[in-house]
Amino acid sequence: MTGNITGISGPTVSVALKGLRLYERVYVGNAMLTGEVVKIESDRAVVQVYENTHGLAPDEPVRATGMPLAVSLGPGLLSGIFDGLQRPLQRLREETCPFIKSGKEIYALDRSRQWRFHPLKKKGDDISPGEIIGYVNEGRFHHFITCGNDISGTLSWIADGEINIEAAAGALTDGKEIPLYHEWPVRVPRPYRKKIAPSRPLVTGQRVIDFLFPFTKGGTAIMPGGFGTGKTILEQSVAKFADVDIVVYVGCGERGNEMAEMIEEFEMLKDPWTGSKLMDRTVLVINTSNMPVAAREASIYTAVTMAEYYRDMGFHVLLLADSISRWAEALREISSSLEEMPGEEGYPTYLSSRLSGFIERAGVVETYSGKTGSLSMVLSVSPPGGDFTEPVTQSCLRTTGAFLMLDTSLAHRRHFPAINWFQSYSLYAGELSAHYKDKVSPEWEDVQKECRDILRKEENLREVVEIVGIEGIQDQDRLLLHTAEMIRSTFLCQNAYTDDAFSTLEKTLSAVKKILDFHKEAGERLKQGTPLNDIL
Ligand SMILES: Nc1ncnc2c1ncn2[C@@H]1O[C@H](COP(=O)(O)OP(=O)(O)OP(=O)(O)O)[C@@H](O)[C@H]1O
Ligand SMILES: [Mg+2]
Repeated sequence: MTGNITGISGPTVSVALKGLRLYERVYVGNAMLTGEVVKIESDRAVVQVYENTHGLAPDEPVRATGMPLAVSLGPGLLSGIFDGLQRPLQRLREETCPFIKSGKEIYALDRSRQWRFHPLKKKGDDISPGEIIGYVNEGRFHHFITCGNDISGTLSWIADGEINIEAAAGALTDGKEIPLYHEWPVRVPRPYRKKIAPSRPLVTGQRVIDFLFPFTKGGTAIMPGGFGTGKTILEQSVAKFADVDIVVYVGCGERGNEMAEMIEEFEMLKDPWTGSKLMDRTVLVINTSNMPVAAREASIYTAVTMAEYYRDMGFHVLLLADSISRWAEALREISSSLEEMPGEEGYPTYLSSRLSGFIERAGVVETYSGKTGSLSMVLSVSPPGGDFTEPVTQSCLRTTGAFLMLDTSLAHRRHFPAINWFQSYSLYAGELSAHYKDKVSPEWEDVQKECRDILRKEENLREVVEIVGIEGIQDQDRLLLHTAEMIRSTFLCQNAYTDDAFSTLEKTLSAVKKILDFHKEAGERLKQGTPLNDIL
């Protein structure tokens, strides 16, 4: 089906083409730019174009595809660097050098690469929907190949040997082939058998998170913070050190040079849990501030669909997005060019439901193949002016389990990660403390409580000191201030540029215990009459 352009306004284009469906993918103009139908009226449809619309003119052709916006899922995604439409940036550049051209259709997965397929079933076996039939090795992972969730039957044959992704891995007696890769519409969550409550810890290597505001596998967390509070560094640190199998990182509307540095760094670094190259477990989706805004809206869906795909193989996957506010801004820009009724602060009225729909795709699931996989999310939020009452932060708060508030005044004092220990919370903390008590040390909960107590008492004491001065308080209290300062500066602070950037749970516990042991011993000596200055 072909129609033509009747009007253009920034990234949105009106087209005269009957028979289109909502969210159908279309190709726009002579340059064949990718777009998605976002509004249908009696005589026209409105298409959101994911690429730069410069030079587009009325009457140019528009071609329908009959398919929604989808991504390719198969071996070869790991260590990939994609744009918001899942086009591999490296190959895009090679093929359209020196500048990436709009409208270039390029496969996400390398079609020429051969994969050694290992069958786990044999001819004549019965296959149920979503069942695993074999695997290929993708780096250190067994990349499982499953039959679709909507097909079942008896295997008439199955491959055993080198095949490329366009070849079938097997077929059923009714003739249906099981391909090595498939397409999946990005806005449709991938199905699973059932959801399970998250209960296993996700260790981040960041002491303040693991000790005070822990994450779970399958859980969700947001990190809102004003300008320069360390959101990007913290997201990247979690991406480097988290004890998950696979990391999908979305650079969403932030600086390009930060992403370039990250790629360089990840190429050289090793995963601290397995020792293999960090990039081997990472998928990057990049839509930086200078890339088309509409594709930014799609980028988080592209990323979460790839993350769900690996979750379905039974892996623990972590999705990080920096920053979800830039995604919301893209949504706002598109909504206003559609002349929709604006809601709070100009965001569309459906901001909150869209965000929760996205965040709800996280969780621990039992997959159709009977495996347990998890998808966790850590999203940074950039509230304008550091105002946490704004709609994006508030909408995220409703659906996420952990809230790490990045504090501008801590960042000014170069206290990084600038996580405010009074305002932040983790709904997973209670359950995980019991887990850590079991698995790491029986003292875990007591030490944690003691540490929180000292920080709370310090807060109260500081108010007193402001009134009466440091000389006006007792030595025991001065000791407490000293200990609290040690907890803040040596335990809660963690420099991302040194060897201290990653801390194991054992190291975390022993670091805080050393400080608390000092506090206890110094307290005893004070009681025995040793002057505080001598002890310090
Ligand atoms: N853990 C850390 N260790 C050492 N320095 C840090 C750490 N976190 C942040 N910083 C310092 O703070 C600066 C700003 O951090 P970052 O770029 O992550 O902030 P941001 O919140 O992402 O900023 P923006 O709002 O501009 O995106 C960094 O360049 C770095 O110097
Ligand atoms: Mg940043």
